[in-house]
Amino acid sequence: MAAGEATTVLGLETSCDETAAAVVRRDADGTARILSNIVFSQLKEHRPYGGVVPEIAARAHVERLDAMTLEAMREAAMSFSDLDAVAATAGPGLIGGVMVGLTTAKAISIGHGLPLIAVNHLEGHALSPRLTEDAPFPYLLLLVSGGHTQLLIVRGVGQYQRLGSTIDDAVGEAFDKTAKLMGLGYPGGPNLERAAKSGDPKRFALPRPLAKRPGCDFSFSGLKTAVRLALADIDAPDEQDVADLAASFQATAAASLSERSRRAMEIFRRDAEPGAPLRFVVAGGVAANGAIRAALSALCANEGFALAVPPPALCTDNGAMIAWAGAERLRLGLIDDLSVAARPRWPLDPDTAAAMNHKGRKGAKA
Ligand code: KG4
Ligand code: ZN
Repeated sequence: MAAGEATTVLGLETSCDETAAAVVRRDADGTARILSNIVFSQLKEHRPYGGVVPEIAARAHVERLDAMTLEAMREAAMSFSDLDAVAATAGPGLIGGVMVGLTTAKAISIGHGLPLIAVNHLEGHALSPRLTEDAPFPYLLLLVSGGHTQLLIVRGVGQYQRLGSTIDDAVGEAFDKTAKLMGLGYPGGPNLERAAKSGDPKRFALPRPLAKRPGCDFSFSGLKTAVRLALADIDAPDEQDVADLAASFQATAAASLSERSRRAMEIFRRDAEPGAPLRFVVAGGVAANGAIRAALSALCANEGFALAVPPPALCTDNGAMIAWAGAERLRLGLIDDLSVAARPRWPLDPDTAAAMNHKGRKGAKA
């Protein structure tokens, strides 16, 4: 396959509680076309437990992935011989689930003689805005998901420089835990956003995490604790109390993400070639949140950055972003051997992560 040719890639995603399969075509000029994108969210499976149970997630992936893969191929009107490669998330994530997707992709690779591409789930999110938005490299990326909260400069495929990350909970994790303690249940993030719609974001003055600390790191566990204390202060909280608290939490989280992103924009601007366009990209499940999208859009308008955020369905986990990362890697000849292993942890930026771990930091989760 020559570098300039169109390619079509099947992508499988099984790293958490979404089972997903998609077929994406990358045209010779770099335009993406999503030919199919099938996502099954394991809501019913995990709801009784109030969160994701790894063993149940892995079993649910096993039960559904084969049929979903065939459905994605059918919907794209493709046979396996029409594909140029098969890509699957190889980490980071819940290891049982990751093994299901990666092993399925290996079987397809062997059975149909297709190159295998082991995709870092975070790279899937990091490149996802390029599926639907105008997002040429380099750009500043805010990656906000259930397991990660990071600011990175993305210079190209595989070229990531981390400017900051969370020192405790990821922002999605904070949404999920806060929703749980307010009795909003699983899935926490979307439920909390719904509750916040009828709430007053100014009623509770919650502490802004790391407000006085320089740099681009985040912290969200104190915010979650502040919500717990505020809740404990109210006798028998009613629906309006919960809505006000949800709105106050969401507004504080959005303000914190904006404030840290503003600092990262200063670094990006300093680092950029004179006159080069300034681009800010947001990806990951929490980027589906309307209040956060609005806050970051206002920030970009103030700071003179062009904003690119995927539509909400491509912010949360999906197969199209894995197929797309596969297509971007395939173009560069970055294919993997069948011996590639599933990885529970896998930082996007091994050098920064190693340096941070060396300093005894808690930030490098993946
Ligand atoms: O990227 P993602 O689908 O999976 C991971 O890679 O973690 O992100 C899932 C996270 C969860 O914590 C979920 O609660 C959060 O994204 N999330 C939201 C919303 N939709 C998903 N958080 C706030 N508001 C939302 N609308
Ligand atoms: Zn994700």
